[in-house]
Amino acid sequence: MTGPGGSAQLLEKLSAIESDSLLGLIAMADADTRPDKIDVGVGVYRDGAGRTPILRAIKAAEQRLWDEQQTKAYLGGAGDRRYTELLRPIVLGRHAEDERILGLHTPGGCGALSLGFKLIAAARPQARVLVGTPTWPNHIPVIGAARLEVSRYGYYDRDQRVIRFDEMMQRLDGARRGDVVLLHGCCHNPTGADLDDDQWADVVRTVAHRGLLPFVDIAYQGLGRGLDEDARGLHRLLDACDEVIVAHSCDKNFGLYRDRVGSLWIKTGDPGQSRIAMDHVLQIAREMWSMPPDHGAAAVRIVLDDQTLTADWKVELGEMRDRIARVRKQIAAADPRLAYIGEQYGMFSMLPLEIDQVRKLRTDHAIYMADSGRFNILGMADHALDRFIAAVIGSIDG
Ligand SMILES: Cc1ncc(COP(=O)(O)O)c(C=O)c1O
Repeated sequence: MTGPGGSAQLLEKLSAIESDSLLGLIAMADADTRPDKIDVGVGVYRDGAGRTPILRAIKAAEQRLWDEQQTKAYLGGAGDRRYTELLRPIVLGRHAEDERILGLHTPGGCGALSLGFKLIAAARPQARVLVGTPTWPNHIPVIGAARLEVSRYGYYDRDQRVIRFDEMMQRLDGARRGDVVLLHGCCHNPTGADLDDDQWADVVRTVAHRGLLPFVDIAYQGLGRGLDEDARGLHRLLDACDEVIVAHSCDKNFGLYRDRVGSLWIKTGDPGQSRIAMDHVLQIAREMWSMPPDHGAAAVRIVLDDQTLTADWKVELGEMRDRIARVRKQIAAADPRLAYIGEQYGMFSMLPLEIDQVRKLRTDHAIYMADSGRFNILGMADHALDRFIAAVIGSIDG
């Protein structure tokens, strides 16, 4: 594989690939020069003025970090251990003292997902991963990169706007012992349709009874009903199952998106076995990124280590949650066909639009959402909401 001069020619064998649809959408919205464009494709929180602010508590923590940090020496593969320790009660609730559950700091929720699936591949390469459709676009490639087989089932009925719960349960009932079930902890991205309490109870019972391994992806804790309420399903799984894997993100609930702040949690039936699993996780992390980035986790650590900053963070998180609920209600009240949006949670919902309608919204109204009709409830400033709603209703009416 060398050229005429003897130089390497490996990379020229690569063929072109299609860019990730979400990244393509962001680029398309960026390139639109119309001043009133609305980008509800990208998944970041925006306030009433359309900005994605840095939280007050984080700004204060960063100031303190700047003033007090004495070194940038390596932290080690497990990252910021105090950050993980402080996160324990938030993620694990009543299970925080359980020595069978160990956690470590990762580069975002995505890093935790990759690590968790690679751990499963190391433990049981033949495991299948059950994933509901639709799901967050990264899930399938991340599972594929771990070389695990994906088995899909319909999670959401777009026309009826309900969870296809019977189908989901049928698939869990028919799964093989040792298969993995990927579950969204809260604020289901992309549909906004979360399992209710009774449905969680059925899922937990079946997962435990069938010997399946639940893998919970919880990226929006506190942006649905509340910090503890949003982890209720996860806590019930921890009540019932000896083995659980959790990928957690602080990127949304602390507004730290680009700083990449996450954690991975592993529960096995025995503390010694959990330590062995963690050694594997550290080994895999070493191969992937060696050590996680420090800054964002250090800011979260400072917030959670200080009662005043923690209280302020909770106020800000509550404000974000209230804004999501308010905008949801406003959209829901505009038309009975959008009423379901008021019943859902989190930053995303799916509009009853076909791909040509979505594309027409782009060309005619400079409104950018995913081809599936998935949109960010908070993608627009308050002043743009009426225009957005009118354009969507016009599009549904045809
Ligand atoms: C369902 C889900 N899981 C995980 C993530 C990963 O989040 P992070 O930005 O922390 O990697 C996202 C990001 O949007 C998500 O929506």
